[in-house]
Amino acid sequence: MSESVAVIGAGLVGCLAALALSKEGYQVTLYDFRHDPRLDTTQNKNLKSINLAISARGIDALKSVDFGACERILQDMIPMKGRMIHDLRGEQESQLYGLHGEAINSINRSVLNNKLLDELEKTTAELKFGHKLARIEWTDDKQICHFAAEEDSKVPNIEKFDFIIGCDGAYSATRSQMQRKVEMDYSQEYMDLRYIELYIPATKVSKQEYGGNFAIAPDHLHIWPRHRFMLIALANSDGSFTSTFFGPKDQISDLITSESRVKNFLVENFPDIVNIMDLDDAVKRFITYPKESLVCVNCKPYDVPGGKAILLGDAAHAMVPFYGQGMNCGFEDVRILMELLKKHSGDCSSAFVEYSQTRHKDLVSITELAKRNYKEMSHDVTSKRFLFRRKLDALFSVMMREKWIPLYTMVSFRSDISYSKALERAEKQTRILKFLESLAIGILSVSSFKLFKFLARERS
Ligand SMILES: Cc1cc2nc3c(=O)[nH]c(=O)nc-3n(C[C@H](O)[C@H](O)[C@H](O)COP(=O)(O)OP(=O)(O)OC[C@H]3O[C@@H](n4cnc5c(N)ncnc54)[C@H](O)[C@@H]3O)c2cc1C
Ligand SMILES: *[C@@H]1O[C@H](CO)[C@@H](O)[C@H](O)[C@H]1NC(C)=O
Repeated sequence: MSESVAVIGAGLVGCLAALALSKEGYQVTLYDFRHDPRLDTTQNKNLKSINLAISARGIDALKSVDFGACERILQDMIPMKGRMIHDLRGEQESQLYGLHGEAINSINRSVLNNKLLDELEKTTAELKFGHKLARIEWTDDKQICHFAAEEDSKVPNIEKFDFIIGCDGAYSATRSQMQRKVEMDYSQEYMDLRYIELYIPATKVSKQEYGGNFAIAPDHLHIWPRHRFMLIALANSDGSFTSTFFGPKDQISDLITSESRVKNFLVENFPDIVNIMDLDDAVKRFITYPKESLVCVNCKPYDVPGGKAILLGDAAHAMVPFYGQGMNCGFEDVRILMELLKKHSGDCSSAFVEYSQTRHKDLVSITELAKRNYKEMSHDVTSKRFLFRRKLDALFSVMMREKWIPLYTMVSFRSDISYSKALERAEKQTRILKFLESLAIGILSVSSFKLFKFLARERS
């Protein structure tokens, strides 16, 4: 008989894990404490971002699970081939992500989640909503899951499984149950930042330049970098954009004390948005919408020995959203776990142990890269030196091909290069770029000194 598995959490990663295991013949039950999001749209309001960016790692993982499903699921995504930087005068500047037109893709989060659920319905997997995992009893044989009682029944639900996959997000209950069983190193860190979701509506008349009702170019990720804070926007397929403000906590609490403050702040710092956003609506959202926090989670190991349980997705590695990799990384978790299960002929015990041992350095690398990228998005993109270094970076990659690959390319477009390898190679490349940059500055200053002396001599 096939092994039984509980996947806890029907978010993006849990759905993909359930789909992958089900396709491999496991007897899967997927649990979530929410109601079926396909039936109930109200509960999803203000749940993280409305859209997100999917890139090579996420897409390749989807394909590895089910090629046909991947095509169906990713139908409506919008490619973004670069960043569009909006300066304080409202001028825009495009910075392409790749040298060969590579793009990341904007996709509606609930469409992605719902379509994954639809694909799951075609398998033998069972979906159980309204089930909140409360406790796990670890035994030598089966793992016993206790679900909190539904409001209308007094008896808690108890079910037994061969193993458990914890995909229940940053505040994972599976993880805290595992921590009672294994010595798990664990860290949780909050950024001094909050985010507020704003909205850019579709234009009433179609704009020819963008081929639709988009107020700004849909094929770019828009950034208004203002150093300590920033605004970003990603296109939706209906012509609107989801826009997110990120800023320090105290700045936000200062601002939202009055409507006029928020209004002045928006107009002063993002002058061009008055043309594309409904300013009063933006002010209202800024004040009344939830100010969400950003948490980073790392842990080790990810499994309970004996192949009893394993953590995937945000439950194992919540990260800040600045590299657009949280879900992509979670999808990659699924691909790698499935490969290991195959390699060990279905022996969970060995597969989970190897996963914990080999995956850790990659997960630590991407959580770190994500943190660093806030500075790049909110500040560096406006710096002359950064742009100079980026040009050199691109030049070297053209000249040296596989021997020199820009970091963004390795992370977002190359699922064959692990996160840790990408970080390691990028650190070497950055050292060389910084050296050349200081050399160039040195040569420039020496030659300008000589020129100055020469001119001084000529004059006299
Ligand atoms: C503002 C923002 C923007 C982002 N942008 C991007 C992006 O562009 N690209 C990208 O790749 N990533 C992005 N991310 C990250 C991405 O959203 C997450 O990495 C991804 O959603 C993680 O999926 P998950 O399934 O692991 O967890 P979650 O999406 O958190 O899902 C967890 C599920 O578990 C359920 N659950 C929780 N506890 C229990 C319990 N006790 N019992 C039963 N069920 C439970 C929850 O209801 C939920 O459905 C962004 C995140 C944020 C906050
Ligand atoms: C995203 O998809 C959901 C569910 O289909 C839909 O209700 C919502 O309007 C979509 N959002 C955008 C901005 O396209």
